[in-house]
Amino acid sequence: MSLELRPRTAQAPGPEVLFSAAEIAARIGTLADEIIADPVMVEAARPPLAVCALRGAFMFTADLMRALSARGLDLEVTFLQVASYGSGTAPQGPVTLLQDTDSTAAGRPVLLIDDILDTGHTLAFLQTHLRAQGATGIVSTVLLDKTERREAGVSADHIGFDCPNVFVVGYGMDADGRYRGLPYVGVL
Ligand code: IMP
Ligand code: MG
Repeated sequence: MSLELRPRTAQAPGPEVLFSAAEIAARIGTLADEIIADPVMVEAARPPLAVCALRGAFMFTADLMRALSARGLDLEVTFLQVASYGSGTAPQGPVTLLQDTDSTAAGRPVLLIDDILDTGHTLAFLQTHLRAQGATGIVSTVLLDKTERREAGVSADHIGFDCPNVFVVGYGMDADGRYRGLPYVGVL
């Protein structure tokens, strides 16, 4: 079976590029430098645990972990899944935990990785959840920060890019399940 590649054409254009694959790769390199120098990471008595918020952060997590490893920091990783969006493009009700981590954060610092910080309810929920698990410290990183829409009083420690208040897809992020595999961040 051969995989048929379908180039994007003028008739079937992909989402417009907001952050290109090259821009993302370059920023993740400098982000990894910043994270490695973070005092919580430097002073950790036990090896930090990376926690990836599924599903949107899977690609960012993979590339960030490779960048950290290339700089000498190999992290254990675990995953959890939260939902607040359903199939829409605006948060729908409270954040719910669909799947918890399988390695506990008890007694160790956590590098919490998410795709987008928007209203902030997801990050606030995850921080509370990981503290309740017993994490000794939390360093949070998000690829994109939509500062305009903040409702919860949270901020991320390390931010990839400031993002305008538009609905983005690609590089792990979806619109109703589509576009997660795009190698760039685009706008519909
Ligand atoms: P918050 O709880 O409002 O901060 O929402 C954060 C979550 O909403 C992120 O983890 C994303 O999964 C999702 N999200 C927010 N904005 C977008 C977007 O533009 N495209 C895709 N997902 C988004
Ligand atoms: Mg998410």
